[in-house]
Amino acid sequence: MTVFDKVVTARGSPNIAFIKYWGKRDEKLILPCNSSLSMTLSSDTLNTTTSVLISKKLEKDAFYIDGVLQDLQDPDVKERFEIVNKLRKMAKVKEKMLIVSKNNFPASSGMASSASGIATLIYVLNAALELKLTQRELSIIARQGSGSACRSVFGGIVVWKKGSNPDGTDSYAEQIFDENYWAELTDNIVIVTQEKKKVSSRAGMKQTVQTNPLYEMRYSSSETHIKEFVDAYKDKDFHRIADIIIADSNEMHALMLSTKPSIRYLNKASYAIMDAIEELNAKEGKNIAAYTFDAGANAHIITLASNREKVMNALKHLQDSKEIIEIKSSKIGGAPFELNETESLIDMQSMSPYN
Ligand code: PMV
Repeated sequence: MTVFDKVVTARGSPNIAFIKYWGKRDEKLILPCNSSLSMTLSSDTLNTTTSVLISKKLEKDAFYIDGVLQDLQDPDVKERFEIVNKLRKMAKVKEKMLIVSKNNFPASSGMASSASGIATLIYVLNAALELKLTQRELSIIARQGSGSACRSVFGGIVVWKKGSNPDGTDSYAEQIFDENYWAELTDNIVIVTQEKKKVSSRAGMKQTVQTNPLYEMRYSSSETHIKEFVDAYKDKDFHRIADIIIADSNEMHALMLSTKPSIRYLNKASYAIMDAIEELNAKEGKNIAAYTFDAGANAHIITLASNREKVMNALKHLQDSKEIIEIKSSKIGGAPFELNETESLIDMQSMSPYN
């Protein structure tokens, strides 16, 4: 078999949801209550790189993330590693693996490191194990690691269909527009905090589904938002997509706020950013920027590359007052891809990660 004793390396990136997923109808299989839509970010700005080595010479599995050897007995790590075992079983491989993964941005900082990490892990394992799974199959497996990860299997604008089968076979992501259709689109990630979020999205979603009667309204409106978004995107109508992006983010955060106990991710700086973007749009007489927030206080400002400077100027006072720590700008990006051996994170000689 050729799967042994060679290092395979791949790179993938996070995605930012424009129509948000919040709530599961099946916790174990990670089946969502509503469909969602996202833009995959360019790996030029934010990425995860993962190398895999499968060898008879390895005595045990080892998994490194950002230089730290993971404890495979830790429940969270164990859960993620289940995906590895699943794929290994599918390939009928029994040998041990060394997996080395690196993010070029801080994990758990609200920049969707789990989506990027899991999508890249599954992509690289598919290649290393020579499984030849389709992107749809990869998306179904990624979904079971972290819901939003199923969208990072594709580039461009991606919809994760909620599906209705109890076994989850029809709950996967699909590309709606490729990254070249409207390549001018950018996401400007405005970092206002580096703190780990207080409520994990998993716990928060569960709380919402259990306690918030508004969630049913949310699940029908997200379907409407997806249809409206796709129509406006087809016409490259920025004003309309911005209206939908802003409305959907506010709706999800209103849902969080009205959950018992109330979940609040946004902080003073987040609200100041919302004010600045709304003022900018009012001054321009049309929307040239849209804000959206995931389960955290950091903002994502969507704008066309040609309007980026105006957005930066509108946020300048918040940078000067140190409310904004940093802004990372990313173009719309593509699907995970394989890298050549010069990018490997594993030293074949010592069978260990490079320092
Ligand atoms: O899949 P998770 O557990 O990372 O949850 C993602 C939830 C949001 O980021 C808030 C929305 C989304 O659709 O990405």
